[in-house]
Amino acid sequence: MQLTGNYLALAYLVSATLFILGLKSLTHPASARRGNYYAMFGMLLAIAATAFNPAIRSYDFIVAGIVLGAAIGTLIALKIRMTAMPQLVAALHSFVGLTAVLVAVGTYLTHRAQGTLNTVLMAELFVGAFIGAITFTGSLVAFGKLQGIITGRPLIFAGQHILNMMIALVMLGFGVDFLLHNQFGALLILIALALTLGVLLIVPIGGADMPVVVSMLNSYSGWAAAATGFTLGNNLLIITGALVGFSGAILSYIMSKAMNRSIGSIILGGFGGGESTAGTGAVTAAAKGIKTAAVEDAVFLMANASKVIIVPGYGMAVAQAQHALKELVDILESKGVTVHFAIHPVAGRMPGHMNVLLAEADVPYDHVFEMEEINPEFTTADVALVVGANDVTNPAAKSDKSSPIYGMPILDVYKARQIFFIKRSMNPGYSGVENQLFYQDNCSLVFGDAKKVCEKMVVELKAA
Ligand code: TAP
Repeated sequence: MQLTGNYLALAYLVSATLFILGLKSLTHPASARRGNYYAMFGMLLAIAATAFNPAIRSYDFIVAGIVLGAAIGTLIALKIRMTAMPQLVAALHSFVGLTAVLVAVGTYLTHRAQGTLNTVLMAELFVGAFIGAITFTGSLVAFGKLQGIITGRPLIFAGQHILNMMIALVMLGFGVDFLLHNQFGALLILIALALTLGVLLIVPIGGADMPVVVSMLNSYSGWAAAATGFTLGNNLLIITGALVGFSGAILSYIMSKAMNRSIGSIILGGFGGGESTAGTGAVTAAAKGIKTAAVEDAVFLMANASKVIIVPGYGMAVAQAQHALKELVDILESKGVTVHFAIHPVAGRMPGHMNVLLAEADVPYDHVFEMEEINPEFTTADVALVVGANDVTNPAAKSDKSSPIYGMPILDVYKARQIFFIKRSMNPGYSGVENQLFYQDNCSLVFGDAKKVCEKMVVELKAA
């Protein structure tokens, strides 16, 4: 069977509609699962329709690619830790970038041999090749930084931005040469320059900004795919690429806003990845006049509270404490305590990080509140239990103009009657700054791994 003309276009239209429905459904936890099904079915239809395209002459490589890709993908999906998701996404973007480059080179060579090159096609090849090449090496560097293979610290040197600008200009020059004189050599040189630019653009960006960068690279990978769609005359690839391109750009904007950084300052780099300067443990806390509390104290107050607000953060994800936390919530509720979760837009290390983990532990959606909704509730909370979160609660963001997080919106945890922080040491959060909240009279630190502390709280509560 072969799908031609209108039938192929119709199949692609249905796929594109399913992708859009998928994205729309992913905007709410209750419909997110359905959204995934829409997108999966859309992709299945897209692959099936493409497989029946008469332009395909041999299936050997396609079948081998699908079987191998599906096997590797399944293995990775089963093994990957949620906290390692950003680097996995970065690695996957690098493939999209590399594909765009290879398609551009392959298409050029095929059309040159057939004598069917034209200026529009060559302009598409140029755009696809340079965006693809930047995405490829940029994503590899982002992967290396997030995986800890290369340092997460910003790598800065004098004249960096001027050098980048010059490389970009020379690259454009070779692009024009390629278009005007049909020089394969010029295409290869511009690809080499774009590969170099990809590395240089990402090395000055610090670890703290990396998730925003991954989201930006996601956007680039979408544009690279769209350019490839133009090259191959594939409408679905153009639509899908544009969807990824725009959604990545919107997400980067939302994330940078929630971190109070401008996209421009992130691209220019130099922030984040700092080493912690604080000491560790209860000894340091006492020396600094910071209060600590035993699990029993926290449990006593929570059991006698009417409202408890839980603030999860990166530490909950690292410790995988969400299941123990859910058990804690169930017991508190059985004792008549109202328990709500407060989610900061950039808690954890990726968008929706906390929501995914809480959903995995079957925390009901109506217990989970976004920052704007929950902030007015902190004044009526008897206890705020902060589980492995730090930066997103730091009042310095409101009061200390010299703080790197100044201006970042925070959860108003400081307004709760009593605050307990579960963390392992006096180490700061991702931004590397100490939390002013620790010095507040109504705040105590409960030292320990989030999962172990929550499990101990459950045992204590059951016994109470
Ligand atoms: P952080 O400020 O990074 O603080 C996490 C805290 O968890 C640390 O203080 C750490 O202290 C503690 N912790 C780590 N492992 C733990 C464990 N096993 N058990 C108990 N505690 C543990 O986290 P946050 O409040 O979620 O804020 C997120 C930060 O990441 C923000 O600065 C945000 O801008 C940045 N960021 C987020 C995103 C997205 S999209 N979510 C993207 C880029 C950057 P100890 O080491 O003392 O335990």
